[in-house]
Amino acid sequence: MIDVEQLRSEFPILSTEVNGHPLVYFDNAATNQKPKVVTDALTEYYDGYNSNVHRGAHALADKATQEFERTRELIKDFINSPKTEQVIFTKGTTEGINLVANTFGRANITEGDEIIVSTMEHHSNIVPWQMIAQEKGAVVRPIPITDEGEIIFEEFEKMLSDKVKIVSVVHASNALGTINPIEKIIEKAHEVGAKVLVDGAQSAAHLPIDVQQLNCDFFVTSAHKMFGPTGMGFLYGKEDILNDMPPFLGGGEMIKEVSFDGTTFNTLPYKFEAGTPNIADTVAFAKALEFINKYGKENIAAHEIALLEYATEKLTSEIPSAKIIGQAKNKVSVLSFVIENIHNYDIGMMLDARGIAVRTGHHCTQPLMARYNLEGTVRASFSVYNTFEEVDKFIEALKRIVKMFG
Ligand SMILES: Cc1ncc(COP(=O)(O)O)c(C=O)c1O
Repeated sequence: MIDVEQLRSEFPILSTEVNGHPLVYFDNAATNQKPKVVTDALTEYYDGYNSNVHRGAHALADKATQEFERTRELIKDFINSPKTEQVIFTKGTTEGINLVANTFGRANITEGDEIIVSTMEHHSNIVPWQMIAQEKGAVVRPIPITDEGEIIFEEFEKMLSDKVKIVSVVHASNALGTINPIEKIIEKAHEVGAKVLVDGAQSAAHLPIDVQQLNCDFFVTSAHKMFGPTGMGFLYGKEDILNDMPPFLGGGEMIKEVSFDGTTFNTLPYKFEAGTPNIADTVAFAKALEFINKYGKENIAAHEIALLEYATEKLTSEIPSAKIIGQAKNKVSVLSFVIENIHNYDIGMMLDARGIAVRTGHHCTQPLMARYNLEGTVRASFSVYNTFEEVDKFIEALKRIVKMFG
């Protein structure tokens, strides 16, 4: 069991006030807060050993390179990648998906091919595929979902054929909380020779990730949803697939030799890491991974799920005009809802006035909102540092809002 009060003390922002009230931060699916070890690591790098990586023949460059590559080692263990070379640093999930769409996609998708996503994808797992599909004359097809927010597996099976080159699905939905059956999806997609990309933006910090056991071809995520800095993330890929893929961006670091007669490319992972990387944030991300490892992902998830169950029960029993959007059996700690006759934006503003931060709107999932005939929802998403008392405050504030509008 986690001592939540002790854990909270590692996050300076949690003792601040917003609009005259102690901050209640329930916008963790957008980005979560950072423990001090992470922000300290940024200053330590800039004040103590700021230098470029992989190049300099001096002590600072050695230290920066060591710390930078240590993050890659930690990620390898975190997701059980066979090799560190299969871990490619990116700016985040969006860049990871764009990288795969522009390299694997451009090399392998041809006219008449199909790309399968699901109805619940974030725009970042729709638009890059639409762009490549348009260029190649391919189509993007969404897997339908039930009213509860679960993928209709039989429909997915019917969509599979040798035309499908890639299935790109979200592991856990940012808008509904649904945890998708990705093992089964991967197995079925492989039967028709399709590759599978898993969008792990909402899963990496909450669910066990073993890329070898999953047998996914690609896995992408963002550090800022894992207590780490923004502008940092990674792509995992199977070694043979990554080796066969053309590079993404061209420039320094990703080359072996350059002449005006032609250029040869570097080996993995550097082939996909052109230019000076985001060194400070990469180094600091190691501290976020260590933070998760220290408390244990299972313990973190257990607390978050307890909060979700508590909040779901209270919302259902105490606010009858609320309707939960996303009632899958298997969920991460995301509670999306609408309240009859009150606009989600007004609810968000009024909660904010009491220091309670939630997300409102379409959550970058407009096709999903269209599926439910909604403009948007109110989304409360819980993290390990949240408390049951904070949920009580949130429900009391909602009750007051309903009364005011009633
Ligand atoms: C499921 C999902 N996929 C992709 C993204 C995009 O992540 P980023 O903006 O960090 O690239 C997000 C961010 O909210 C997300 O929740």
